[in-house]
Amino acid sequence: MENIKRNLGIAASNLIENNSIVGLGTGTTTKYFIEALAKRCQKNLNIVAVSSSEESFKLAKKLNIDVKNENDVDHIDVYVDGADEVDFSKNMIKGKGAALLREKILASFSKKVIIIIDHTKYVKNLGKVLLPVEIVPFGCKLTKMKLEKLGYFGEFRKSKTDNGNYILDVKLTHLLDDPQIHHETIKNIPGVVETGLFIDLADDIIIGYPDSKIEIIS
Ligand code: 5RP
Repeated sequence: MENIKRNLGIAASNLIENNSIVGLGTGTTTKYFIEALAKRCQKNLNIVAVSSSEESFKLAKKLNIDVKNENDVDHIDVYVDGADEVDFSKNMIKGKGAALLREKILASFSKKVIIIIDHTKYVKNLGKVLLPVEIVPFGCKLTKMKLEKLGYFGEFRKSKTDNGNYILDVKLTHLLDDPQIHHETIKNIPGVVETGLFIDLADDIIIGYPDSKIEIIS
């Protein structure tokens, strides 16, 4: 699996054009992208980056990538990130790495969103993996109860997100035919900041296979 992730990171970094502003996702696959991007920057690639998490920010800084505060850029050319599941319509479940809110802000602001996943994550319908939901601390148990009334049951993670919120990992009871409806229903509850359902945000999906094959779905 590490080889697949490394290949994906390299493949995505090779798509980054000179003088672009690049959004950095979060997670173990994106880590390889950041490392490959840093290597290209050491040679002759000139880019500016913004990050979806403290973790990716620190890694990029350590590797001497020019990372700026997200409020100091006026556009993002391309955002590269992993995902937990991607369906055949390019909708996604994201957030296992707890960065879903910042990831969604950067992805929705970017001209192009490239997602890098191994082949096991490309599915007909979303819903086998846990659905992370970011919830503000105030009244979080009440928000959880409200979600349960609507059929969404889950467990809180122990640690807070970079934004000081909690993540509730929801175990879905069935695969999702219409992820948008679930996103809207959950997001509509006061106390919910964001859901890990990313609808209509991805442009290109790069899928990695064990035999080193790389497939790009545009
Ligand atoms: C973090 C995310 C990650 O992109 C997602 O969890 C995939 O991570 P990994 O590449 O480690 O499997 O959404 O919030």
